[in-house]
Amino acid sequence: MAIELTVNGRSTTVNVPSDTPLLWVIRDVLNLHGTKYGCGIGQCGACTVHLGGQAVRSCLTPVSAAANAQITTIEGLSPDGSHPLQKAWLEIDVPQCGYCQAGQIMSAAALLTKHPNPTDRDIDDAMNGNLCRCGTYVRIREAIHKAASMQSQHQRAGAANHAAGTAEGGL
Ligand code: FES
Ligand code: FES
Repeated sequence: MAIELTVNGRSTTVNVPSDTPLLWVIRDVLNLHGTKYGCGIGQCGACTVHLGGQAVRSCLTPVSAAANAQITTIEGLSPDGSHPLQKAWLEIDVPQCGYCQAGQIMSAAALLTKHPNPTDRDIDDAMNGNLCRCGTYVRIREAIHKAASMQSQHQRAGAANHAAGTAEGGL
């Protein structure tokens, strides 16, 4: 069956059975291998992607449910790896083996969209479905706080520049 998808801003058509898990379309048809297979039953979060801005488990999402929605994978989170979460992850050196980390970052990105300054409780609630066998949870939480603070500094700087530009334009 031909199904139209928009993945990381690009439209594409795939020919697969409509109940194929989105995870396998992303990995095996579109060759985007950042999204990982962990359990296949919605229990680990390794396969997390965004569907219409929400974090979803792609192993449980039939590809037909993703038609006509914006799908974002770790490869599309930012064009050059400069998302605040990616920077914070590097600065804090979060990963150990790395296998779970794309899913962790995608869940964290959905969290920051809803809660730009999350509390520890918000983080734990949003991230508790993302398992890490290497136990990097403390660094993940620290990196999310760091990314939130980078994001708000960036927004404050943008607002200040805008105000300065407006003031100069009014002279
Ligand atoms: S592979 Fe999807 S939740 Fe584990
Ligand atoms: S870094 Fe190894 S599973 Fe999370």
